[in-house]
Amino acid sequence: MSETEIPTSLRSARAEHKRLGAEIARHDVAYHQNDAPIVSDAEYDALKRRYAAIEAAYPELAGEDSLSDRIGAPPSEKFAKVRHAVPMLSLGNLFADAEAAEFVARVKRFLGLGEEAPLAFTAEPKIDGLSCSLRYEDGVLTRAATRGDGFEGEDVTANVRSIADIPQTLAAGAPAVLEARGEVYMTHADFSALNARQQAAGEKVFANPRNAAAGSLRQIDAAITAARPLRFFAYGWGEVSAPLATTQHGVIAAFARLGLPTNPRVRLCHSLEEMLAAYRALEADRARLGYDIDGVVYKVDDLALQARLGFVSRAPRWASAHKFPAQRATTTLRDIEIQVGRTGALTPVARLDPVTVGGVVVQNATLHNEDEIARKDVRIGDTVILQRAGDVIPQILGVVLERRPAEARPYVFPQTCPRCGSAAVREVDEKGEADVVRRCTGGLVCPAQAVERLKHFASRLAMDIEGLGDKQIEEFYDAGLIRAPADIFTLEARDRASLEKIKDREGFGETSARNLFAAIAARRRAPLNRFIFALGIRRIGETNARRLARHFHTFEALRAAATKENALEELTAIDGVGATVAEAVVDFFAETHNTQALDALLVEVTPEPMEAAATSSPIAGKTVVFTGALEKMTRDEAKAMAERLGAKVSGSVSKKTDLVVAGPGAGSKLAKAGEFGVEVIDEDEWLARVGGAG
Ligand code: IVH
Repeated sequence: MSETEIPTSLRSARAEHKRLGAEIARHDVAYHQNDAPIVSDAEYDALKRRYAAIEAAYPELAGEDSLSDRIGAPPSEKFAKVRHAVPMLSLGNLFADAEAAEFVARVKRFLGLGEEAPLAFTAEPKIDGLSCSLRYEDGVLTRAATRGDGFEGEDVTANVRSIADIPQTLAAGAPAVLEARGEVYMTHADFSALNARQQAAGEKVFANPRNAAAGSLRQIDAAITAARPLRFFAYGWGEVSAPLATTQHGVIAAFARLGLPTNPRVRLCHSLEEMLAAYRALEADRARLGYDIDGVVYKVDDLALQARLGFVSRAPRWASAHKFPAQRATTTLRDIEIQVGRTGALTPVARLDPVTVGGVVVQNATLHNEDEIARKDVRIGDTVILQRAGDVIPQILGVVLERRPAEARPYVFPQTCPRCGSAAVREVDEKGEADVVRRCTGGLVCPAQAVERLKHFASRLAMDIEGLGDKQIEEFYDAGLIRAPADIFTLEARDRASLEKIKDREGFGETSARNLFAAIAARRRAPLNRFIFALGIRRIGETNARRLARHFHTFEALRAAATKENALEELTAIDGVGATVAEAVVDFFAETHNTQALDALLVEVTPEPMEAAATSSPIAGKTVVFTGALEKMTRDEAKAMAERLGAKVSGSVSKKTDLVVAGPGAGSKLAKAGEFGVEVIDEDEWLARVGGAG
C-alpha cells in the first residue's frame, strides 16, 4: 500500500496501526535505549506521519494504546495539598428498594432498635458534581479544598472565591470554625452554553456537566474558573467549633440561615415508605431539576445517632446512596481486545461504535472475563445492549440476537498472553474450581504486568508521584529507563542523558523533567500504609494495607512476621485479615524476585513507621473480648467503638487477651478469662474507661 492510501476498513486500518506502532516502538528502543538507530530520521518521520494519518482517518484508533500521545501534556494542575482535619468519605450504594430496606434494618440493628421503632432519615438529592470543603473562620472563607483521596485534597481557594454561589462571608451567628461541605456542580443550561462557547473557540468540549465542573474548578488559572458558571449545594460538614444543630435537617436549615446554598428537595422521612416515596419523586422529576443527580442519599437525621453509628472503612454507617437505575443504549461491537493487568489478569475489553448513554459518549465497555463472553455469547459484529451507571466502566448486558450478522463466530479467548506470549491459565483452587480470571504466567518477563505494577506504584493512592502518570511510565518503560520501582528513584542520577533525548523527541520539557525529579525526591519517605499498598501485593488494597500498617507499625515488623514459620497464624490474628489475604502476603515475601526488587527499593525509599491508632486511648493496642449480654449498646456498636479506640476485638479468650467485658449470661469465655488470669470488667466499667473517648 502506498504511503498516501489509507486503509478502507477499520479492521485493516487497525492491523496496520498496530504493525506501525510496534515498528515505531522498536525504533524508539533502538534510538533511546541502545543509542543505535536502525533507520534514518527521515524514514522514522515517514513512519510516524503514516501512523498519524491512519489515526486521523480512524480517530477510534487514537485512543487504543496510541504511541502518538504517549507523553502528553505534563500535569498542569499544580495545587498545594490540604490535609482534611476530618476525612472526606464516600458513600455505600443501594441499587434496589430491598437494599434500601436492608440499610434501614441494619442501622436499627446496630442501634439496638426494634424493627418497628421509629427512626427519621433525610432523603437528599445526590448531586452529580464534585465535593468540596469550605473552611470559614469567624464567618470568613479562608480555604477551599477538593476531596482528593479523602484524607488530602487540593487547595482550590482562589478558584472557589470566584464562584458566585459561595459566600465569602457568612451571616451572623456562624461558629468560629466551620467547614461546610457540599457539591460543586454545573446546571444543564450553563453546561450547554459552555460547550457551545468551547466549540466555537476550538477548545475542549466536555462530556457531561460533572466533568465540566471538575475541569473548571481544577484550573491553575482562577480567571478561567471565574468565567465558568459553577454552583454549590451544602449538605455536610468537617471541622466545626460548635454544633450547628442536633439533626441533619437542622444543620441544612442552619446552612441556609448562614447564607450557604442548600438543596430545596431535601425531605425528612419517618419511615422506609416515605424514603422510597422521596426517591420516586426525585426520580420522576430528575429531568426537570436542571442539574444532574444520580440518586438519593439517605442519612440518619439524629446527629447523636450518627455519631454512635460511625464509619466502616471509608463510608458512614449512618448514610447510603440509593442510586437511580443505569441508562442503556445499543451499539455495534467492533472488536474485543485483551488487556493485561498488574496481576497478569487478561481482561476482555469491547471496542464499540461510539454511542451516547446518559449524556456520555461510550466507545469501550468491559466484558469482565472469558466466562461472561461465553455466557452471553457475545460475538464481534453483534449489536449489543450497553449499560452505564455513574462512574463505573460501562457494561455489556447482552446481545440483540435478531441483528446478529450471518458471519459472526463465537469468540475464542486467547490461551496465551497477547503481550508476552506466555501461557495464560486459570488457577484451580483446592475445591477444583477454576478461577474466572485467566492470567498470564509471564510474571516479571511480561512487559504488560511490569508496566501495570509501575503505574500502580506511582499512582495517587499509592506513592502519589506527581508527573509520573500512566503515559510517562509507559514511555519510560519502553525506553528502558524504568523497569522496576527502584529505578524511579535512580532515574535522575542514572539517566539524565537518556531523558535529554526523550525530552528532545517527545516534547518533555526541561521544567517537566525538573518537576518530575522533585516529585520523586519528595517520595523518598513514604507513609507505611501507602508503601505497603504501592507494592501491589495481591489482595492488599488500601484498607488491608492500612490494617497491616496499623498492626505492625514498621515495614521490618511486617516483613519479619510474614516470613516466620507461623506467619499465617500471626497474620490471620489481625482483625479483618482472612486466610486468603494472609496467604497472599506470605506468598509475596516468599518470592525471590519480589524480595530482590523490594531490597533494591528499600535502598531508595524509607517507609515511615505508623503510629498506633488513638494511642491516647486507654485500650489502644489491647485485645478485648465481649461476652454475655450488653445492655447499653449493641455488640456491633461496642466492637466498632473498641476498634475506633485502637483495640483489637477478638471472639475468643486466650493468653493474649488483655480485657474481657462480661455482661449477664457470660459463660465459658468468662471461665477461660479466670483460667488465664485476664482482667474482667462489666459494661459500666467499660463505658467509664472509654467514656467520652468514643
Ligand atoms: S454525604 C460522609 N450528601 O456523593 C458522607 N454526599 O458517592 C459523605 N454527594 O463524595 C457525603 N450529594 O461528593 C452526601 N446530599 C449529598 C450528596 C453527596 C452528592 C456526593 C459526594 C460524595 C459522593 C459519594
